[in-house]
Amino acid sequence: MRRSFLDRLGEKFKKKKEIALQILKDMTRLSVNINKVALIRNSRKGNFPNLVQVAKDCEAFGAQGITVHPRPDERHVRYSDIPALRQIVSTEFNIEGNPNTQFLDLVLKNPPTQCTLVPDAPGVLTSDKGWDTISHESFLKEVIAQLHEKNIRVSIFVDPIEKFVEGAKRVGAERIEFYTGDYAKAFEDHPEAAVAPHRRCAKLANEIGLGVNAGHDLNLHNLQHYKEEVENLLEVSIGHALISDAIYFGLQNTIQLYLQKLS
Ligand code: PXP
Repeated sequence: MRRSFLDRLGEKFKKKKEIALQILKDMTRLSVNINKVALIRNSRKGNFPNLVQVAKDCEAFGAQGITVHPRPDERHVRYSDIPALRQIVSTEFNIEGNPNTQFLDLVLKNPPTQCTLVPDAPGVLTSDKGWDTISHESFLKEVIAQLHEKNIRVSIFVDPIEKFVEGAKRVGAERIEFYTGDYAKAFEDHPEAAVAPHRRCAKLANEIGLGVNAGHDLNLHNLQHYKEEVENLLEVSIGHALISDAIYFGLQNTIQLYLQKLS
């Protein structure tokens, strides 16, 4: 029987819709962490480089999110930077940090799309491990309840260890962010062993309904392997390497180079 023109048209759109959905499913968003830009600004008086302009430019150059990590000593992004950034970020605004009272206050007053909870000690050079989601279960539950009241999506920074992934689900987070510092260290010599726990734990996370983000020490060398091996990777947040690469390639080219690794 001959198919009608409308049937054929319907099939064509259905196929296109399936392809579009598959592309969305495979997409990993690049969130640029602009802490390092703030560090340069803070090294002198004044407002150069202008953090708000840099965030806008990152988005114009293709970044699909902006991440900031205010720390108590404000050596990077300052607490006072957050309201203006919250106003202008038009992609996805992610505020990460240790949920002490000051941090939580800031996030609740300037609700971002996502808040990533990180267990970093006040004076630490950079985040170096994820949560023990079992020992801190009741604390995390309390914090997450407050964030959910403001409709903020919550992601929990964890090492790729099954019991902590399951713990993140129990405390009510929507996502986890894998700490990739150890992956980055082991990648050069043992790329397969380095990614194996991430692959395993991402599979588990997907099965129990947790979205998967990743971050720390990701760069132009190790990002593609990670993306290829970790299923359903929703987002990476990258700061140090990306801003360093921008010294050589410029911000626009650098963002494009990172996007290529994720495509
Ligand atoms: N994710 C978290 C939780 C972090 O603390 C950081 C560093 O601020 C990053 C991602 C980004 O790490 P990097 O600057 O090494 O790309």
